Amino acid sequence: MSISLPVGLDRYDGKLRFVEQDLTSLAADFGTPLYVYAEEVLEQQACAWREGMQRCFGERALVAYATKANDRLRVLQTLARAGCGFDIVSEGEMLRALASGVDPERVVFSGVGKSDLELRSALSKGVRHINVESESELLRLSKVAEQQGTHASVSLRLTPDIAAGGHDKISTGRKTDKFGIAPERALALWRQPWHGITFDGVAVHCGSQICDLALFEQAFRFVVEWAQKMQTLSLPVRRLDLGGGIGIDERGEPALSPLLYARAAQKWLAPVLDEKTRILVEPGRAIAAAAGLLLTRVLDRKRIEDRTCLVVDAGMNNFLRCALYDAHHRLLPVVCKNTLAKHTQKTKTWVVGPVCESSDTFGTHEGLEQAAIGDLLALCSAGAYGAVMASDYNARTRAAEVFIEHDGNTLLLRAREDARVRLAEEESLVRA
Ligand SMILES: Cc1ncc(COP(=O)(O)O)c(C=O)c1O
Repeated sequence: MSISLPVGLDRYDGKLRFVEQDLTSLAADFGTPLYVYAEEVLEQQACAWREGMQRCFGERALVAYATKANDRLRVLQTLARAGCGFDIVSEGEMLRALASGVDPERVVFSGVGKSDLELRSALSKGVRHINVESESELLRLSKVAEQQGTHASVSLRLTPDIAAGGHDKISTGRKTDKFGIAPERALALWRQPWHGITFDGVAVHCGSQICDLALFEQAFRFVVEWAQKMQTLSLPVRRLDLGGGIGIDERGEPALSPLLYARAAQKWLAPVLDEKTRILVEPGRAIAAAAGLLLTRVLDRKRIEDRTCLVVDAGMNNFLRCALYDAHHRLLPVVCKNTLAKHTQKTKTWVVGPVCESSDTFGTHEGLEQAAIGDLLALCSAGAYGAVMASDYNARTRAAEVFIEHDGNTLLLRAREDARVRLAEEESLVRA
């Protein structure tokens, strides 16, 4: 059964387009590898989450987009305008989120390692909602808040001990994972008096690329159980943070519809909710993945044993997910070669990057048998955890990034790096 094209893509005259923009022209104008983002798709995904959550929780719902998925300012501006708040994990992400114009009240600071400097900076900028992941972090936050004569609104991130996520390396909710606080410890922390700290709720995040609603329901049940324990200690529950982790399908759409997710949350959370409880969900991938693709050109073609291997100009330094998590992303030819399509549909072609690592591979793909040197390919669902994870390994350069606005205008968000400029900068430091 053939799968329809990913969200935002169509073919016109045999050529692949993204939100009706000709990808061949974009590659000609900006070169490859090139990230292409579409405002229309980004906004659609964000609105689906906002509407789904609001239908179940009204104004108490907050979709706090996980900034780590794609932190480009223009992306954050679109999401802030679409009514999202932000989940951040560093000062850098905070500065970007705030630069989008979002109210700091709609920003929540998560993350397993926050420095004192970062905590200080967050409180001084009005970012008070902090998800604390350890007892010593709580202690440091308390000191920082006291020194500043302010207070932080703290949800403890508790470990539900749920094994979920598309890969071992993106599972975060097991008791052996590095994240969060063992729930049994929470009771002792909640009972102690803390300067500068107001406990406001419970936070969880079980992992990423989770497609099974039952796993989320386990997490919701856990959240309710521990929120009720807070209430028995007379601590009001003002914030329930359900984390992110919603997986996507082959078309880049959320594997669970936002409304289905929200209804399940509503069913489980009902016993602890009142009109003042804010319910947060933190999708990253489910909002940003479909909104981006990576254009890459075939550099070489060879036979390895019994299979055809295409070497493309994007490597694991540009897009790490396949190497790091064995992730599968669809790779489509930008120009369709119909002639032999019938014979070749079932043949799998191996696609690899140019980096000197065996792990630099994008897996095997159907429909690329005809691809020749110089052809353009589009790696789909690359808007999340793509450019943000790039490096300069092998002294390679980062890809350029462009953003297609609603009116079709193309904005350059990041110019292609130039290896010569980088070298010249380093030379001037070495000589100084
Ligand atoms: C605390 C937290 N929230 C949300 C997310 C976003 O996850 P996803 O992009 O899978 O929705 C992450 C991802 O690592 C996270 O650590």
